[in-house]
Amino acid sequence: MSTQKALFLEKLGGKLFIQDRDIPEPGAGEVLIEIHAAGLNPADWKINGFEGILKEFPAILGTDGAGIVKKIGTGVTNVAVGDKVLFQGAYDNRHATFQQYAVTEAEIVAKIPANLTFEQAASIPLALATAALALYNQKPHGIGFDAPWEAGGRGKYAGEPIVIFGGSSSVGQHAIQLARLSGFSPIITTASLHNSALLKSLGATHVIDRAAPLSELAQAVQAITSKPITVVYDAISDADTQNAGYDMLAPGGTLVIVHCRAVDAGKVTSEKEILYILGSVQFAEHRAIGKSLYARLTGLLESGEIKPNQVEVLPNGLAGIPDGLAKLKAGISALKFVARPQENA
Ligand SMILES: NC(=O)c1ccc[n+]([C@@H]2O[C@H](COP(=O)([O-])OP(=O)(O)OC[C@H]3O[C@@H](n4cnc5c(N)ncnc54)[C@H](OP(=O)(O)O)[C@@H]3O)[C@@H](O)[C@H]2O)c1
Repeated sequence: MSTQKALFLEKLGGKLFIQDRDIPEPGAGEVLIEIHAAGLNPADWKINGFEGILKEFPAILGTDGAGIVKKIGTGVTNVAVGDKVLFQGAYDNRHATFQQYAVTEAEIVAKIPANLTFEQAASIPLALATAALALYNQKPHGIGFDAPWEAGGRGKYAGEPIVIFGGSSSVGQHAIQLARLSGFSPIITTASLHNSALLKSLGATHVIDRAAPLSELAQAVQAITSKPITVVYDAISDADTQNAGYDMLAPGGTLVIVHCRAVDAGKVTSEKEILYILGSVQFAEHRAIGKSLYARLTGLLESGEIKPNQVEVLPNGLAGIPDGLAKLKAGISALKFVARPQENA
């Protein structure tokens, strides 16, 4: 078989349609993956508003994938044909995941342990990368904490508080889990209170109702810890959360943001860092830390130290993705939509 089905975006703001295309060949160091589950992310609909990211049209979207290795390029030793793997693709037509087969670099794929389904595995890559790269890549690309999957990193930041806005988002759930592995305490997060039990099971020590006024948040945090807040991870990053996060940050601290900077210019001081993260292990500046994460990811998933999101499988394979993106845009709570590209005959 040399052709496959893919979901294409005609142009920015254009229609999504399914069409046949060639199955790519893996080059040296690459693997060809038959995609059994593809995770949907907000970027997959927001991309219509971003010029310049997609370089070819029609474009295939989707960056999160899980499936079976079908071919390996020369020099690949960490995975073999038949292995079940998860990987973070990219917004180009060889690597994107809203198709039945994609190619990626073997050094950033991880085997899926037996306790995870393809769908659970496909919920992980972008959210995990966005949390992990910001916390553990070296400056200026990350804060530079020692990673908990590396020797000496586990529990290293015991007793240091962290505040995570949007704990029930996909990114927030991974930030909480990594903060727990790093030892941060307390781990304070904002979410709807119906998600409290889930977030506490992942490692949050305190869940503050996100419906409460943000102007009262710093006070609520101070009631939990008197220590200076030197890390705020804003997994929501609208103007309100960025400003609230910046306000509560102590001098020398870092506010991580996942969207363009919206902190009021008048309050910005050189004493507080703002770190904008684009969470892809495909990027050159994140590759080394991404490679080290993927080398240890199977074990972290097998032990349950990193847990996937709650997933909902979309019907009709690739054809179900447009509806899924519309629902994602309308808003979800602690959930990841996943499509099964192989269901398209
Ligand atoms: N820069 C990057 O590389 C990158 C990568 C991934 C994502 N992102 C961006 O990061 C954001 C999160 O992505 P995601 O996939 O994690 O999103 P998601 O899972 O779709 O987020 C949904 C969650 O957001 C929570 N939420 C919404 N508004 C909130 C607020 N004001 N305060 C606290 N929680 C709030 C909701 O919480 P409740 O249900 O508890 O109310 C809901 O569970 C998106 O804007 C996305 O575009 C950026």
